[in-house]
Amino acid sequence: MSEASPTLPAEWYFAADRYDRERLSIFANEWIWFAAEAEVGDPCTYVSQVIAGWPLMVVRGSDGVLRGFHNVCRHRAGPLVDDGSGACANLVCQYHGWAYSFDGRLRSARDFGETLDQDEYALHPIQVAVWRGQVFVNLNAAAPPLDDDLRDFFAEMNDFPLEAMTLVRSARHDLACNWKTYADNYLEGYHIPLLHPELNRQFDAKQYRVELGDRYCRHTAPSRDGSPTEGRWLFRWPNLAMNIYGDSMNIEVIVPTGAESCAVLYRHFFTDPDAADVASVIALADLVLEQDRRMVEVVQRNLAAGIYGTGLLSPRHENGVLQFQDLVRAAE
Ligand code: FES
Ligand SMILES: [Fe+2]
Repeated sequence: MSEASPTLPAEWYFAADRYDRERLSIFANEWIWFAAEAEVGDPCTYVSQVIAGWPLMVVRGSDGVLRGFHNVCRHRAGPLVDDGSGACANLVCQYHGWAYSFDGRLRSARDFGETLDQDEYALHPIQVAVWRGQVFVNLNAAAPPLDDDLRDFFAEMNDFPLEAMTLVRSARHDLACNWKTYADNYLEGYHIPLLHPELNRQFDAKQYRVELGDRYCRHTAPSRDGSPTEGRWLFRWPNLAMNIYGDSMNIEVIVPTGAESCAVLYRHFFTDPDAADVASVIALADLVLEQDRRMVEVVQRNLAAGIYGTGLLSPRHENGVLQFQDLVRAAE
């Protein structure tokens, strides 16, 4: 068996300059899950949120085309839309009323006194791509296409009927820990018997396995009652988890909100939104999140306390954590 590896240095989990670097090196370069396509299904609808300090929006124009922009006006940085989702008949800045077309070009600079170039003062665009009902964005215009970049990860779900699933519930959980503290925790099943008794009863944590692919890993654990509904948890660098079950799926996205804070976005999908177990599946996911929260927020405090430098990763249980931390190092 291979030897234990050192963890990332503790400082990487709280230093402000590290967070600033990761905003640029990771979150301005990678494909990031942004929304379920159903949330921007109709013309003149949008989803807007801040990802690692970047205020972003995805808008379906009156022409039916989905586009993405920084939600930052070219005049003096006002917002076009509020954070959240909804309808937008047009794109007018909330501060002084500059109006933009759905393609991002400046349509009019209200009472400005001179005519400005529509393209020069267009909204800053971002890449948008849709894969099987999920919307992704990329701030880097030169990034490889989504389908190429996430090919192997997406192939894991080839046999899974994503299109037959309905978005049933969206939730956001704000956590007082660095995004990597939560990701590290997600990436191992080592802690399941201690933190998650309910999950531990459902799945055989002794047989929990993590297999590595191209910037992703697959976690599996057989269910204890021998039913075919094994747990299959997929994590794609840097911050996307897709938890797949027989007739449901939970997407979990870890969004940095500061050096020592993050938000976990949930989207629950079900083949049958009226199925009897919908409420209990969602309740278990929320329970597991709260059990993890209790630990990761204390771990965050302890990482920043000054006594811990680096630790060790188990080759048996924490290979997924090691892969993730290697990618964090490589993104430097
Ligand atoms: S900041 Fe947008 S119109 Fe002034
Ligand atoms: Fe956990």
